[in-house]
Amino acid sequence: MNHFLKENDFNTSDRLKIFNLASEYKENRLHHHQPLAGQTWGMLFFKSSTRTRISFEVGLGELGAKVVVLDKSSMQIGRGESLEDTARIFSRYLHGMVIRAFEHEMVESLSRFGNIPIVNALTDFLHPCQIFSDVFTLAEKWGGRGDSLESVRGRKLVFLGDCCCNMANSWIMAASLFGLDLVLCGPENFKPRNDILDLLEREGLEARHSFTSNPELAVENADALYTDVWVSMGKEEEESGRIAEMTPYSVSSDLFSKAKQDALFLHCMPTHPGLEVTQEVLDSDRSHLFDQAENRLHMQKAILATIAS
Ligand code: CP
Repeated sequence: MNHFLKENDFNTSDRLKIFNLASEYKENRLHHHQPLAGQTWGMLFFKSSTRTRISFEVGLGELGAKVVVLDKSSMQIGRGESLEDTARIFSRYLHGMVIRAFEHEMVESLSRFGNIPIVNALTDFLHPCQIFSDVFTLAEKWGGRGDSLESVRGRKLVFLGDCCCNMANSWIMAASLFGLDLVLCGPENFKPRNDILDLLEREGLEARHSFTSNPELAVENADALYTDVWVSMGKEEEESGRIAEMTPYSVSSDLFSKAKQDALFLHCMPTHPGLEVTQEVLDSDRSHLFDQAENRLHMQKAILATIAS
């Protein structure tokens, strides 16, 4: 059974195939065969979503699948039915599930209890579909095509802000898998946690990241800057403290100017202009957020087609 719960669930050869296929899908969006024809996939989101929710529903349709969109409030799982029974029931009706959850253990449990593929559409721990799409976007900008993965190898990417959030964790995984040199930069209280470092070690992956609290030092010679929301879903009660601690890590034009002259700016969205990034940086021609968002569609189609093959 193929699942996509974390970035290294595909081996190197499958990752290359996925990036090639995503390039083909992007070049020829609607004129390809439909590997999911005749299948029905479920989508269950325990958290809000705009990009992920739409891109998966559109992508599944373009691959030929029917989609059942589920939500906790109208399901028995919202009234206490067990995850184990729910996973077994999904497996009797559906050919695969796309799930956004708070706890990473939930997607792991669903993958263990059921016997259909599970795709992680974000957990508090990892956001693997976003990170594959972001690496694809960087390869497009640096190598001309989303599958030019050699163009990404050895580049310096700096992630600023909350360095223990799911996107920081996924960049730690991506740096190892795609050969990026990752610098994580944020307050000492928000440095990478043991859970992601333990995962790297357990999976035998090379660590290619470092951490600093000095933003000017971090962005020196950077090829790309990346940031994400400071108050992730579920952390709302910590809002004022987080904003106070992370303000020095806001991506301003001044900080951006200290990176390489042609450095790129990426953000997985939604943005909060004036907090983690200024409107001026968002409006810059080196900001590529909407390409990132579009690439979610092509990349996720390639992931789904590979899982189903
Ligand atoms: N980047 C991302 O996952 O966006 P959504 O929360 O809108 O899906």
